[in-house]
Amino acid sequence: MKHLLGMRFLEREEIEAILDQAEAFKEILERPIKKVPTLRGKSVANLFFEPSTRTKLSFEMAAKRLSADTVGISKTTSSVVKGEDLIDTVKNIKAMKTDCFVIRHASSGAPHMIARHLDCPVINAGDGTNEHPTQALLDCLTIKERFGDFKGLNVVVVGDILHSRVARSDLMALTKLGATCSVSGPATMLPPYVEEVLGAKRIYDIKEAVREADCIICLRIQRERLGDLPLFPSVREYASFFGIFPEVLEYAPPESVIMHPGPINRGVELDPGLADSDRSLILDQVTNGVAVRMAVLVMLLAQNN
Ligand code: CP
Repeated sequence: MKHLLGMRFLEREEIEAILDQAEAFKEILERPIKKVPTLRGKSVANLFFEPSTRTKLSFEMAAKRLSADTVGISKTTSSVVKGEDLIDTVKNIKAMKTDCFVIRHASSGAPHMIARHLDCPVINAGDGTNEHPTQALLDCLTIKERFGDFKGLNVVVVGDILHSRVARSDLMALTKLGATCSVSGPATMLPPYVEEVLGAKRIYDIKEAVREADCIICLRIQRERLGDLPLFPSVREYASFFGIFPEVLEYAPPESVIMHPGPINRGVELDPGLADSDRSLILDQVTNGVAVRMAVLVMLLAQNN
């Protein structure tokens, strides 16, 4: 594993190895002094050309917990706004002896293109509608912690599957690990490839979709990627048909849990009370994001430097 560009490139054993390493790192995050010298002397560049709260800060925190140095730029604070192209930007940052690049970009494939131009690890922190591999890894770790095993587990992903890089990475990772996956949402947002390529059943009725779900992963509508496409009549109608509210959850098994990659649009895809309830693993996901990103940084930097 030279880069982490997508779950499609990982074998089940590689996913399991990352999860095992992340579980070990969770212990460090519980210590009074949450720092180890594993990556002392290494430098990580976080290049976020799209907004982020969780991914950006948890990559930064993960690197710092491992004693690596971090630098970062965003689209608006980089010379990209002066017309510099992406490859020139990363080559200049690499010339400062950077050891690893974390890339978020609105264009699907941007981290893959960067990886072809650099001789150091590149981590995809979310590219367009393509993949978000570390989100899938932290989701898998959260599910593993709660349920122990993926075999026999039913996971439903609900919402704007068409534009969701999280859905694609989650479905690839979870099916490789042995879970049974389905998707639900407006028909216009459930592309045929989820069934034909990823093996996730499409279920249009939300009550039927949650009926056997151990785990319900809610997604927000990716407004920034919709453009003028009228994929559903109104937000209110979307919420009434596909929002996870108490009356929908009554159809789900009582021990089922709710997850969400964030950011949440409370009251649209998820009831505000449920987001904060005992059924919600949303903040566990965020906690696990740091451990998973520590594991990925160590595995890539140890193998490739
Ligand atoms: N889940 C996720 O990618 O959140 P951010 O956009 O805040 O990083």
